[in-house]
Amino acid sequence: MIIAIDGPAGSGKSTVAKLVAKQLKYRYIDTGAMYRSVAWAAQKKGLDLADETAMAEIAENLHIEFVPSEDGQLVLVDGENATTYLKNETVGKGAATVAAQKSVRETLVARQRQIGEAGNVVMDGRDIGTVVFPKSDKKFFFVADAEERGRRRYEELKAKNPSLDLNIIIKEIRQRDYEDCNRKISPLVKADDALEVDTTRLNIEEVTDHVLKNINNL
Ligand code: DC
Repeated sequence: MIIAIDGPAGSGKSTVAKLVAKQLKYRYIDTGAMYRSVAWAAQKKGLDLADETAMAEIAENLHIEFVPSEDGQLVLVDGENATTYLKNETVGKGAATVAAQKSVRETLVARQRQIGEAGNVVMDGRDIGTVVFPKSDKKFFFVADAEERGRRRYEELKAKNPSLDLNIIIKEIRQRDYEDCNRKISPLVKADDALEVDTTRLNIEEVTDHVLKNINNL
């Protein structure tokens, strides 16, 4: 069984996908972390992220591993625990750049298919239900108001950075939406057969419950 959860940044998909996978004892694959890994590796080497040939080479050779842990999962990039670095906003911005590149997407989509073919996986991203696994058993498309998604991001980050400005975060969320929805290759779009879940006024438990109920009624 392959469960696809797509949606914009901050819609709650990663948190819920992780919990759903735990409940079902499935593997959880965060495809955003794969694009982030490419951006992080490139930034570490001081490369120009607009250089598609160089990014394609990095994507091709990078070893990305998901390792289950106490509080979810770790992402190892070429053997290094990159989990915390990957959450960085600079890496997020870089990920949006490399995610718009055809050859990077081809490489990562092929890897995602390889992982998913073993079955029993919950995969979240932007194009899982449309491109990676268009025939997945269950597809969800999460949405939420940009203001609410900005507030969630703000709550998550403000402990480390008390000078954060909520309005700037909301602006950045809108900018990321624009980039994800308007790129030429695999833009963020709901698959026709995906179930839309508006998480604006729901907490994590409510969304997880809703998804699990839907899966169990297959
Ligand atoms: O979900 P996230 O913020 O970790 O994703 C990082 C970037 O990668 C974001 O700009 C969207 C992009 N992405 C994508 O294009 N396709 C995916 N399957 C997952 C993420």
